[in-house]
Amino acid sequence: MAKKPARKIKDTVEAAAAKVSAALTPDVPGSPGSGTPAVEEPATPHDPLPPKPEQGAPESRTPTGAATDVPPTDNSQQGEYLTSAHGLRLRDTDHSLKAGPRGPVLLQDQHFREKISHFDHERIPERVVHARGTGAHGVFTGYGTGEAVSRAGFLAKGKETAVFVRFSTVLGSRGSADTVRDTRGFATKFYTDEGVFDLVGNNIPVFFIQDAIKFPDIIHAGKPHPDREIPQAQSAHDSFWDFVSLHTEAQHHTMWNMSDRGIPRSYRTMEGFGVHTFRLSNAAGETVLAKFHWKPKLGVHSLTWEEAQLLSGVDPDFHRRDLYDAIEAGAFPEYELGLQIFPDNPEETFAGIDLLDPTKIVPEELAPVQPVGKLILNRTPTNFFAETEQAAFILGNFVPGIDATNDPLLQGRLFSYLDTQLTRLAGPNFPQIPINRPHAPVNDMLRDGYHQNAVHGGVAPYRPNSLDGGNPFPAGDAENAFLDVPVTVTEAPKIRQNPASFDDHYSQVRLFWLSMTPVEQQHIISAYTFELNKCYEQAIKERQLQSLANIDPVLCQQVATGLGLPAPEPTAPPADVEPSPALSQLGHTWPADGRTIGIVVDPDGDTGDLGAIRQAIFDAGMVPLLIAPHGGMVGGLPVQRTFATARSVEFDAILLAGAPVPAPDALPGRDAKAGAATTTVVDPRVLLLVDESWRHAKAIGAWGAGATVLEASGITGTPGVVSKKTAAATLTALQKFLGAHRVWERFPAVIA
Ligand code: HEM
Repeated sequence: MAKKPARKIKDTVEAAAAKVSAALTPDVPGSPGSGTPAVEEPATPHDPLPPKPEQGAPESRTPTGAATDVPPTDNSQQGEYLTSAHGLRLRDTDHSLKAGPRGPVLLQDQHFREKISHFDHERIPERVVHARGTGAHGVFTGYGTGEAVSRAGFLAKGKETAVFVRFSTVLGSRGSADTVRDTRGFATKFYTDEGVFDLVGNNIPVFFIQDAIKFPDIIHAGKPHPDREIPQAQSAHDSFWDFVSLHTEAQHHTMWNMSDRGIPRSYRTMEGFGVHTFRLSNAAGETVLAKFHWKPKLGVHSLTWEEAQLLSGVDPDFHRRDLYDAIEAGAFPEYELGLQIFPDNPEETFAGIDLLDPTKIVPEELAPVQPVGKLILNRTPTNFFAETEQAAFILGNFVPGIDATNDPLLQGRLFSYLDTQLTRLAGPNFPQIPINRPHAPVNDMLRDGYHQNAVHGGVAPYRPNSLDGGNPFPAGDAENAFLDVPVTVTEAPKIRQNPASFDDHYSQVRLFWLSMTPVEQQHIISAYTFELNKCYEQAIKERQLQSLANIDPVLCQQVATGLGLPAPEPTAPPADVEPSPALSQLGHTWPADGRTIGIVVDPDGDTGDLGAIRQAIFDAGMVPLLIAPHGGMVGGLPVQRTFATARSVEFDAILLAGAPVPAPDALPGRDAKAGAATTTVVDPRVLLLVDESWRHAKAIGAWGAGATVLEASGITGTPGVVSKKTAAATLTALQKFLGAHRVWERFPAVIA
């Protein structure tokens, strides 16, 4: 029997949709689930779908750290049928039990009460800082090079250790945008055989304050004003600058924030730092002082400020999406863990730098970073709340071979992280939450409390005991017990005071400034100018200018000009310091893995090269996204963005495979981006895309008719803009620029 026309149309549309799905999978990341949804609501009962291939979950461990053979998927929903939390199969979850169709809801509706009550309590307090974050699973492999200085087992040669990393911003709420100007957290949980080691670091190697007792002050100043609760997730406001201009030890961290480090391109292109100096001890009991560094394989790379601002609206989840898409695409983020190592001398200084002062770095030229292992992030979470939100990083989670120093900031953190979990994760048993469970046996004598997951045996959770046969027993050296390094505490009065060396608040800020290339210095000037112009109070601007004058007169003068204020004289001559070129982000060549290439296509033009160029981009480890006037397919390939949905900030480079004329929806009344129209030759949204990409120093390539777009944009022949005969030659030329991240030579920068 012939199908009805409506059925035929539906079949055709479904066949086309299936073709698009098939063409997208598995190369283009971003599919929401592991199945391909049908148009009709599924009606045949079946087990829950498996996780997506790139998803991981906490390894199955008992609450007390024992390995189990339970697959992680057994910790998620089971069975084909809807049940209550107690496993009762349910008939209906769409209608509450009522006294007749028009009657009141009955109290006896257990399912209604359970469902609503659980929903009412779904939210937990967000982190007091670093609320906005993104986590991923991975593996750390030791090189063995760290064994000489630390007996931590995870550093041993070839030793593989499971890790969970959470990246975060500091100031914003959980739902704030990813690309705000802020410090980024880089917290790593190593599930070692010797217990959990948490390296709770940032992407900036210094901190705002020298003593943890000031932490509430800097955070209260940086968070939104308490009266109107604005601005969200940023430092461009009066209370932040009020604090940092009065509390000048914050100036060093503040300049890092005002530099391009404050707006990373991706979590994959961020360095990480343990900030503090730690004390390491080796198998022979010898100690050194050390600082931890993470070095990203892709190099340090940042957004431009305009990109960051646009992205806050266009894609507030930009960093989260980038991380997960990269993992899904197989471009696994990689970082090397490195150590700066210093002799453990009684002064705790190196080259005159106080190692207990967390507002100071040790330049890499003086103490090179020595690689000790590699981290690869290769799995996204299966459930964001269970893993990322419930992960609890505890600065004091050390393993044998790593210990604290007397850095007063570190000392305060030892208290804070454990304490904060008591309210955020509702009680003292948070180490038993699956993501926090150690991969080492736990026998802790800690008992009861909210959400106790373990079923403790025995009758004697105390020591000494004989009723449980004396168990648990203290371990010694032979059993690899943690060793508190017996550092001598010098006799001194009990006092609320810093060492005198902590009083230098400017020399290293100047060192950072002088280590930047001119283009990086321009960005710092414009960041200070932007932020201070957002302040209301002139007194605060004047006070901050005084700090800038003490750092560098040129910097101060340039910012003062932007503020329309006179530049003050320094209160003391700026320090004579040696720059550290290692602090600059520019001047290197990096792999382009996971970079996103937007390809503008014209469905009415020549699409012959598209398949090959798309594949060549995949083969180079990058992600090609087709941008067309309409969705669906072009040249037999699926379209990922339309001119209406695309924005330049999503792409690292643009390829122009054609010169599409204005599409029917290129109307300013329908899409304001079309308001940029200056020509009828090319769709105005494409011109905007090209113009923005050019402004953001991105590489742009064209072949064939694509060259017409370059002409219409007026950028032909400018640095980083290539026009070649073939698609392949264009891609090769483009890759050269991608290796350097951006084409800064397009905008030669000179600081007066
Ligand atoms: C070197 C200085 C510091 C660094 C590098 C740092 C880093 C971090 C990071 C990365 C996180 C997010 C952890 C996660 O992803 O869950 C975090 C959270 C937190 N930090 Fe710090 N922090 C510093 C100083 C301090 C100080 C001085 C305090 C308090 C005295 C503090 C208290 C907290 C608290 C309470 C949280 C929330 C933890 C949670 O709810 O899970 N931090 N910090």
